Amino acid sequence: MTETQTTPPMPFDDELLTRLRQSQHLVVFTGAGVSRESGIPTFRDALTGLWSQYEPEDLAMPDAFVRDPSLVWGWYEWRRALVARCEPNPAHLTIAALANRVPKLTLITQNVDGLHARAGSPDVLELHGSLERPRCFDCGTHCPPDAPMATDDQQRIEPPTCVQCGGFIRPGVVWFGEALPVDVWHRAKRAAQACDLMLSVGTSGLVYPAASLPKEAVFQQIPVVQINPEPTALDETMWHNLHGEAGVVLPSLLKSAWPDF
Ligand code: OAD
Repeated sequence: MTETQTTPPMPFDDELLTRLRQSQHLVVFTGAGVSRESGIPTFRDALTGLWSQYEPEDLAMPDAFVRDPSLVWGWYEWRRALVARCEPNPAHLTIAALANRVPKLTLITQNVDGLHARAGSPDVLELHGSLERPRCFDCGTHCPPDAPMATDDQQRIEPPTCVQCGGFIRPGVVWFGEALPVDVWHRAKRAAQACDLMLSVGTSGLVYPAASLPKEAVFQQIPVVQINPEPTALDETMWHNLHGEAGVVLPSLLKSAWPDF
């Protein structure tokens, strides 16, 4: 029987481990990279297969939905079906477990895949909405999601219609050019200004206003630790850059901070 390969804990800075252990209010800010090890491509990953001819920016727009509602709805249904086949990975699970180690943890995500909640994280601040909360494009009535219909060989799916006004149902995500949910944004910004440590995990730091949150923490002289296998636009301002995959670094970091973790 082959030995189970365990990843040895990475050598972490002692001050980092102390700050993590002593944190009274920790913010974890995540992007698409935290779901990469669950099998969900990030935005900077090339879209594969049927969708490779499109850029997310071409489809994640109100105008795109007005122009071709079935194409946009089909793309989101394809993503929803993909997410339904995926499971939270050790990064999501570790973040969920971390909430039991610090007095207060605010989890802010740019992701719409719902994997943090499926991993057990409570009260996730979903800055960009959720695939699981479709609503009417015209009157805003929420429409409970059906089981994902898309298969890999489908592109256009006609959206369902609103029971209230007959308008097309749209994905419950924030599109380019749209405002973030006001209450969620204000809670996220206040947490970024008031915490004593921030972990920025799996984000390229390119899309605003979400990407301003780590910078807001730095402005408040709050240490920010970035976890990403690649350098990002945020590297220069980070207290620590932990170069590695979230599903490897986070469990190792917490094991180093709390050996009984
Ligand atoms: P991106 O695709 O821009 O960046 C994903 C980041 O994850 C990159 O920096 C990768 O290096 C990193 N990454 C890849 N694999 C990783 C792993 N295993 N562990 C940790 N990091 C990994 O996605 P976001 O930064 O989330 O906006 O993009 C932000 C927003 O851009 C999205 O929310 C979306 C998109 O347009 C809207 O939908 C409004």
